[in-house]
Order: sequence, then C-alpha cells, then structure tokens
Amino acid sequence: MYSDRLMEHFRNPRNVGVIENADGVGKVGNPVCGDIMELTIRVEEGVITDAKFRTFGCGAAIATSSMVTELVKGKTIAEALQLSNKAVAEALGGLPPIKMHCSVLAEQALKSAIEDYLQKTGQAVAGAGESEAGPEEAEAV
Ligand code: FES
Repeated sequence: MYSDRLMEHFRNPRNVGVIENADGVGKVGNPVCGDIMELTIRVEEGVITDAKFRTFGCGAAIATSSMVTELVKGKTIAEALQLSNKAVAEALGGLPPIKMHCSVLAEQALKSAIEDYLQKTGQAVAGAGESEAGPEEAEAV
C-alpha cells in the first residue's frame, strides 16, 4: 500500500521539532480526521533556509510533512508557494487515493507558515493560501 520511501520517512522523519523564533509559523488541522500539523520556517533573504514540523497525525501525514521540510529548504518563497501536495506525494513514491488528504495538510501547513512570514514582514500574500485541494482542504486552527 505504501512505498518504501514513504515508510522510510515515516520511520525516520526529518526535521522534527520547532524552530525557535521562527520567521513563519503555520498550524493547520484536518477537520475530517482531527489530525494537526505545525510547521516553522527560517527565511533568510527570501530563501527558506530551515524548516521543522510537528505532526499529531497519521503515518502519511508524518511522512508528507517530513518530505515537505526537505523539499522547501533552499527554495525561495515564490518557489515554495508552488509546491503542491501532489508533488510531495510523488516525491514519496505516491500515496493511496484515500490518503491524499494527508498530503494536503502538509501543503497547507507550509502555505500557512509562508503567509505568516509574509504578514510579519509586511509583504503581499499573493498566491498564498491557494490550493487545488478541493473540498477536503485543511483549515487553519
Ligand atoms: Fe488525518 Fe492522514 S488521516 S492526516
């Protein structure tokens, strides 16, 4: 059901924790399953240099948030906003359809953290918060 790569991220999640005095903090919850994800980012000169997460949720949520923190490091804010849940799922070797909403949680946590960063720095939030997620979209908590 799950790829080896996903299982590996589930067993050994990368970047677990919280960045002290983070430049952006995102917290989202999935209203359907009740899972919660928190993502903190460090931004230096418009580039995400560090990302950490804490997830109270299922294995797929843990693996996707782990992968998101790996994928966004070194990306500009604009590039990170383009990161879709589908790209995260693909990077993990795919997710069963019933688990795609878990990757939406990771995408939303990232976007929420970026929005927080943009608001704190007085920048426009163009493009932030958009998602192809559809009705199962995660909501802010
Ligand atoms: Fe809730 Fe996976 S079942 S995020």
